[in-house]
Formats: sequence, C-alpha cells, structure tokens
Amino acid sequence: MNLILLGLPGAGKGTQATRIVDTYGIPHISTGDMFRAAMKNETPLGLEAKSFMDKGELVPDDVTNGIVKERLQESDTVKGFLLDGYPRTLNQAEALESNLQNLNKSLDAVLYIEVPKDILMERLTGRFICSNCGATYHKTANPPKVEGECDRCGSHDFYQRDDDKPETVENRIRANDELTQALLNFYKERGLVHTINGQEEPDEVFAKIKTILDSQANS
Ligand code: AP5
Ligand code: MG
Repeated sequence: MNLILLGLPGAGKGTQATRIVDTYGIPHISTGDMFRAAMKNETPLGLEAKSFMDKGELVPDDVTNGIVKERLQESDTVKGFLLDGYPRTLNQAEALESNLQNLNKSLDAVLYIEVPKDILMERLTGRFICSNCGATYHKTANPPKVEGECDRCGSHDFYQRDDDKPETVENRIRANDELTQALLNFYKERGLVHTINGQEEPDEVFAKIKTILDSQANS
C-alpha cells in the first residue's frame, strides 16, 4: 500500500503513523523526522533544515524533494510506504507524482486527518515523544498507560520538540493552512482522498483508518 497522511501540524499524523506501520508493515517516511535526524547529526542537510524549522517555515522544495526521491528508491518500499508530512506544497505533489511514475508505482490513498485549527496549539504545546521509538503522547489528552513509560517500547526517555513553542506553532499552522487545502484539491481531483475526523480518541481515529485501508486491500 502506497499512502500519504495529510493534516495540519498537530492533527495526529505521527500518532496514527506508528499505528499504521505497526499494523501494515510498511515503512514510515516522515520528512520532519528525517530533518530532525539530520539536525541531530549536524549534517549539511540538518544545518540547512534547522534554519527553516526553527522559525516554523517550510524547508525549500528542492531539498525536500531530493531526500524523498532517494528514500523511495530504497528496497523496503517494495511493500509500500506511508508518507507523513510530504508532500506539503503543490510543487512537492507534482514532484512525487513524476517520481512514482518513474518507479512504476502509484498512490493508493491519501488519508486526511481533519482537526479544527483552534485545538492544534494545545495539542502541540503539550506533546512529548519517546526518544527510542518515536511514539507520540500528550500530557493530558494522550498520556502513556503507565506514567513515564512508553506503551510501544517500554522506554523511559522522552523529549519535547524545539518547534513546539507557541510562537513557532502559530507560524507552522499559518504556513501549512492554505497549502493543505490546495493539496486536498489536487488529490480530490485524482479520487484519492479519505477524510477522517481527528478529534476522536487516537484508537478511534485509527479504527476508522483501518476500515478504509482494509477495504482498499480487499478491493
Ligand atoms: P513535521 O515533523 O512533519 O511536523 P508538522 O507537520 O508540523 O506536524 P507535527 O509532527 O507537529 O504533528 P502531527 O500531525 O504529526 O501530530 P502528532 O501525531 O505528533 O514537520 C516539522 C517541520 O519540518 C516543518 O515545520 C518544516 O519546517 C519541516 N518539514 C517537514 N516536512 C516538510 C516538507 N514536506 N516540506 C517542507 N518542509 C518540511 O500529535 C500532536 C499532539 O496531539 C501529540 O501530543 C499527540 O499525543 C496529540 N494527539 C494526537 N492525536 C490525538 C487525538 N486523536 N486526540 C487527542 N490528542 C491527540
Ligand atoms: Mg508528526
């Protein structure tokens, strides 16, 4: 299955991505995670990405398209892939379309997680993430079952993202709002969009996604 997860910052893309990849055994390709890994290792890509991410702005299309193009050539994508946070502009959507054509692949579904803008700030400023496996939690809305212990891998080590400060979050939402609508139109024209209400509990949201993906697999 070749999938895209679309949604504003804080909609729950990462939260659902771990559930989808654990269930369907496809690789999770998150451009945000790739940039954060490069930043941690202080590579040239990381240093370039940091200057944009720290302000909540988008990393330039040519850089982002380049890393995804390379990643999609890796062998684990034969089973499929889940793109999280890419594409984010029409230029990226067009680049992806031509990349996939060259690889003889096509998209099966675009899962759009819809959440009203006014609750995103609260979600992002309360977020914390497992340092070991990347599972995502929230202080009050989505805490681990056992306090201080990751449900997914048992680690006790968590971090908060540098770009989850209120002023950066505002910029991120602003930078993505119109672009997300444009991407939705692009993929609606191709008949690929499934809209999911992202305001229910994470497991409920996943149940809806699973129904969609299981019906795709059987069709
Ligand atoms: P990226 O890492 O992709 O961040 P984002 O799009 O801003 O989205 P987030 O990861 O913040 O939110 P999410 O939807 O994954 O929500 P989550 O599941 O964590 O990108 C970061 C930056 O990298 C960008 O700003 C840009 O600079 C750069 N970048 C990345 N890709 C790029 C691209 N393609 N082009 C250019 N630049 C790019 O959940 C959020 C919180 O809500 C958590 O606390 C969670 O526990 C909670 N939560 C989740 N679901 C629920 C629920 N159902 N109910 C209650 N709480 C919930
Ligand atoms: Mg994310």
